[in-house]
Amino acid sequence: MDAIRWEGKTLALLDQTRLPVEEVWISYQDYRPVADAIRTMVVRGAPAIGVTAAYAYCLAALAGDNLEEAKEVLAASRPTAVNLFWALERMARKAQDCGGDAQSLIAEAVEIHREDVEMCKAMGLYGASVVPEHARILTHCNAGALATGGYGTALGVIRAAHQQGKVQMVYADETRPLLQGARLTAYELVSDHIPATLIADNMAASLMAKGQIDLVVVGCDRMAANGDFANKIGTYSVAVNAHHHGVPFYVALPCSTIDLSLADGSGIPIEERDKNEVRTLYGVQTAPAEVEVYNPAFDVTPHSLVTGIITEKGVIYPPFRENLARLFG
Ligand code: MRU
Repeated sequence: MDAIRWEGKTLALLDQTRLPVEEVWISYQDYRPVADAIRTMVVRGAPAIGVTAAYAYCLAALAGDNLEEAKEVLAASRPTAVNLFWALERMARKAQDCGGDAQSLIAEAVEIHREDVEMCKAMGLYGASVVPEHARILTHCNAGALATGGYGTALGVIRAAHQQGKVQMVYADETRPLLQGARLTAYELVSDHIPATLIADNMAASLMAKGQIDLVVVGCDRMAANGDFANKIGTYSVAVNAHHHGVPFYVALPCSTIDLSLADGSGIPIEERDKNEVRTLYGVQTAPAEVEVYNPAFDVTPHSLVTGIITEKGVIYPPFRENLARLFG
């Protein structure tokens, strides 16, 4: 399964706002609508946003647009996932080296995409090693093939563990308000014939209390140097619940999601989205139109609630600050 395709001079994105009902691909030749596609979540998920921005930068180069301006417009699309800025910085460095040559930039973006899939597969194998036999695994949001260059981070771990015959059941939180778990994770699991049960977000604690969850694995949008990390809103409450019930809680991410410039999670910018995402469900009004709404897209989970960090270089355990620094050493 993939959601991002480079087609010579065109970028094609699978419109994730329409899944699982319709599989519609949209083609782009201009970087500006790609920035809108990131903002409106046609494409979403931290690594996928990075890969998409790299290709959008190539569209700007092909069209002879100002690359500095393109970088600024793309960087302004969403604030939390650091992969967006990481990919744009890498493309800008390449542009300096190659004098803005479009073909060299395309080769760099294709390489970013290829590396992302490779990292997910490596992460999958390392992560599968911490999954027990007959595992009942809980995940939140979508950190799958759709959220990355392909294969997935948290879902990559689940895919690899499933291939090893270790997965009894995957519980997918539906993930209000935009239902990435229901619409996207459930879609990926069903497509891959991985045993899956969809639950509303408020059901996870009850499953843990009954001893029906052996392990939690989630994705990440940005991790600070001490292991605190931002992920989809609701991840923090899953982590608190897992800690309370003694359920191991893992976060899976490529090193491109780690932001060593931040000492801890308090500096991670958290996107606030349109209030109508909470007042409505699929365009249907579910609350008074005038009610006040709080709608942060992400929350920060403190490293003290994390059992281990699964990366493409191996699984990291506490003390996280020291062990993360060693990864980059
Ligand atoms: O708002 P979204 O759908 O972009 O949020 C996505 C998540 O929070 C994912 O868990 C995260 O980006 C990791 S994706 C491998």
